[in-house]
Amino acid sequence: MTSEISQMNLEQLLEAIRTCTRCALHSGRTLAVPGEGPANATIMFIGEGPGFHEDRQGRPFVGSAGKFLEELLASIGLQREQVYITNVVKCRPPGNRDPLPNELEACRPYLDRQIELIGPKVIVTLGRYSMARYFPGQSISRIHGQARQVGGVLVVPMLHPAAALHQPQWKATIEMDFKKLPAIIAQAERLSPAEPPPSPQQLSLF
Ligand code: URA
Repeated sequence: MTSEISQMNLEQLLEAIRTCTRCALHSGRTLAVPGEGPANATIMFIGEGPGFHEDRQGRPFVGSAGKFLEELLASIGLQREQVYITNVVKCRPPGNRDPLPNELEACRPYLDRQIELIGPKVIVTLGRYSMARYFPGQSISRIHGQARQVGGVLVVPMLHPAAALHQPQWKATIEMDFKKLPAIIAQAERLSPAEPPPSPQQLSLF
């Protein structure tokens, strides 16, 4: 993580992403897409990069993949406002091409700091590029839907909703993988329980 980015608070980080010129993608963007969600979200979804609609609106997953992601969340009783949603690259690659290694590398410190600040207990990677951050060289068709502990976080690789949307077999796969999330979230909460409320003695100190 470059030292400046690693010192930023969340607000500073989001502003740095909006004005970033660390790679060539900045020159073609309408808006950068830093990500959104509660600053203390338990669960974070990491996609690939903004598409056409995300670039116009400056928000992640607002096109057809986003609509599907919202349906998947609803299937387990969650609304998008309850989770943090971001991408491995924050500016749209031209024509929605795959992000290049130097673009992933340039954006990496932002995602590193975002994860550090939000502190999710569960990270769901959507698609190959965010999976590769945790499981380089692995095949998504083999490991999708399986939670693995990385540091104090449970990381669950899943198919990308845009890819799954139009392929009946993959659509069923991502729907089944989502159904596993409530149990994975409960498991993550057992691994690192929330801070206990202050005891009456602690309270009387203030
Ligand atoms: N696909 C992604 O990977 N991210 C978005 O924000 C939108 C579509």
